[in-house]
Amino acid sequence: MNQGNDLFDPASLIVAHDETHAFEAVVPPLVQTSLFTFSSYDEMVSTYRGEKVRPVYTRGLNPTVRLFEEMLAKLEGAEDALGFASGMSAISSTVLSFVSPGDRIVAVRHVYPDAFRLFGTFMQRMNIEVTYVDGRDEAAVEKAMPGAKLFYMESPTSWVMEAHDVGALAAIGKRHGAVTVIDNSWASPVFQQPISLGVDLVVHSASKYLGGHSDVVS
Ligand SMILES: Cc1ncc(COP(=O)(O)O)c(C=O)c1O
Repeated sequence: MNQGNDLFDPASLIVAHDETHAFEAVVPPLVQTSLFTFSSYDEMVSTYRGEKVRPVYTRGLNPTVRLFEEMLAKLEGAEDALGFASGMSAISSTVLSFVSPGDRIVAVRHVYPDAFRLFGTFMQRMNIEVTYVDGRDEAAVEKAMPGAKLFYMESPTSWVMEAHDVGALAAIGKRHGAVTVIDNSWASPVFQQPISLGVDLVVHSASKYLGGHSDVVS
């Protein structure tokens, strides 16, 4: 299975950190700090005025996290990326950014179980309805879509590895004005680049193939 760009460009792996290349290190150093200092009062003023973009506090901007975000954006062919503390925090923040009480989400069935739980608990409490569809059945997806605010996809899906035509599903979502989101953790950008297939937003659990060694959660 490869959906998206035909060839994965290995050059895309050598990205952002070329620019900073701190200490000529091959592996970028980890910037383990919450706060950053200013070299002068004027620099602090211009930063808080928004004239200068630089790290102030790690939750907002941290050089290590920023390198991760730039690398991921490059791999996914995205405009930009945001790093979160976990895949579930990326999923909940992304979905909650677009839906409001009274809205409806269409989701493919067999999404990652904690996404399913999020949809069945918090979303219900917020009066957000979730309609599940078989992602292999494009007629059913089309039928469910009118009025949906967001279309949540995962392909291959969790546990049963159901594969969908992501480009065709994204086109259905777009036609109905839904924001399209996909969890691309299983395929990884090596095998599937959803943005090139028309999907608006891609989320990942980096503890899977992005991290690769079962030693990261992001
Ligand atoms: C497909 C998929 N999406 C999302 C998640 C959630 O990610 P995290 O555990 O980093 O919160 C997982 C975790 O197992 C997953 O397998």
